[in-house]
Amino acid sequence: MGVVLAYTLAVALFCSFGNAQVTLVPAIITFGDSVVDVGNNDYIHTIFKANYPPYGRDFKNQEATGRFCNGKLATDITAENLGFTSYPPAYLSPQASGKNLLLGSNFASAGAGYDEHTSLLSHVIPLSQQLEYYKEYQGKLAKVAGSKKAASIIKDALYLVSAGSSDFIQNYYVNPFLNKAYTPDQYSSYLVSSFTSFVKSLYGLGARRIGVTSLPPLGCLPAARTIFGFHESGCVSRINTDAQQFNKKINSAATQLQKQLPDVKIVVFDVFKPLYDLVANPKKNGFTEATRGCCGTGTVETTSLLCNPKSYGTCTNASQYVFWDSVHPSQAANQILADSLIIQGISLIG
Ligand SMILES: *[C@@H]1O[C@H](CO)[C@@H](O)[C@H](O)[C@H]1NC(C)=O
Repeated sequence: MGVVLAYTLAVALFCSFGNAQVTLVPAIITFGDSVVDVGNNDYIHTIFKANYPPYGRDFKNQEATGRFCNGKLATDITAENLGFTSYPPAYLSPQASGKNLLLGSNFASAGAGYDEHTSLLSHVIPLSQQLEYYKEYQGKLAKVAGSKKAASIIKDALYLVSAGSSDFIQNYYVNPFLNKAYTPDQYSSYLVSSFTSFVKSLYGLGARRIGVTSLPPLGCLPAARTIFGFHESGCVSRINTDAQQFNKKINSAATQLQKQLPDVKIVVFDVFKPLYDLVANPKKNGFTEATRGCCGTGTVETTSLLCNPKSYGTCTNASQYVFWDSVHPSQAANQILADSLIIQGISLIG
């Protein structure tokens, strides 16, 4: 954990009384894809689900909550670092009611993208619908908290957005209608324009502290190596280049938004570098395997389809693996990513 954060936390905790939960932001509101979904897809009809073992085998009570991980997501760890003792619930779950809504809510849906078609192809919840649910949430929050407190929660909450990976992996690269019609660069511009309108809508609904993840090194995901990497031994460099181009564009879009929208704070979290470093130097970080996922790595890898109770050869100790399945980092890797996120995001919680 960052020194600055440790200090801030110490001050916050010092100022607390009794055992009431003391947090550095009142609530966390999350949108996006499987990197941050805490179980919304459990409640919809899609193949993109993670609510069965061995998902969650290192989570509290070994529960497969719908998180695409063996344990905690990076954003779960971030919530803990900010002082939360329980996680903002998946909006579609029964837990998203009453006082639990005061912690925020999670609207993310594994498989969702900035391109609405990406979400529709996978039958998951598009960002537009996630925003509709968020509006509905605001109404419920006002009933639970009263309109004045609800307004202050909405203004001071931390908003997290994670998308883009599914647009490339599940849509662009495998969809000839897209990849014959658009270059990766053109498609990135399209995705980033969608990001910009999403942030403007979110701002219009009251968000002021917004953190958005960059793309990870998509070419280093075990699935990308298997499906797209037959000529290469390491990461698929063309795919990493596309991810980096996208990241440049989303960074300049965020800078523009920061100038245009009064009183907003926007941070683009660089996920590319910390994850790339883990893959490039696994041993330095205590990992033994960075090319294959712990679960469901086969000849043709499809996340969640091949990580299931019958997956052949699932590793016994996921903390030695950078990747839990063929697309998603392990809890051990998420811990390192979360340490990096909190340092990068310090201006959002100040
Ligand atoms: C799993 O691996 C980690 C990291 O190498 C190690 O610290 C831990 O003791 C291992 N756990 C088990 C149960 O072997």
